[in-house]
Amino acid sequence: MRAACALALLCCLSATVQAETDPRTGLIIDEGWTLVNAHCGACHSHALVTSQRGDAAFWLKTIRWMQQTQKLWPIPAEQEAQIIDYLKRNYSEADWGRRPPLPPSLMPQQETQ
Ligand code: HEC
Repeated sequence: MRAACALALLCCLSATVQAETDPRTGLIIDEGWTLVNAHCGACHSHALVTSQRGDAAFWLKTIRWMQQTQKLWPIPAEQEAQIIDYLKRNYSEADWGRRPPLPPSLMPQQETQ
């Protein structure tokens, strides 16, 4: 009986610490995630999305950059607002679990053979 309580408590604790993610895309399951699933995995892996962090301005800038240079299609304003809300809520700079990756210019040179 007591063991069952401890187990239930553990389950609760881990549920609050770890957000549920979609096993296929790795996207955190939260309001708006299906839009990100639909719009943001067509050209590159969703991992490119989930590996970035930023505020609303960062995500908007990234979307505009892709629209201007990478042929990302126009997204209806209402959907775009939901996508940015989702991204800033789940992938904000405050959520960096570790330092950002080093830029390629700071990495050691690869030996070519
Ligand atoms: C029409 C194709 C296309 C779609 C759809 C698309 N992207 Fe991209 N995105 C690209 C390309 C191309 C790159 C550059 C990939 C590279 O550098 O390897 C990129 C890069 C990125 C990057 C990395 C930017 C950086 O500075 O390194 C992020 C983050 C990103 N996309 C997020 C998104 C999000 C969020 C969506 C959905 C709203 C999305 N992408 C949809 C084409 C697309």
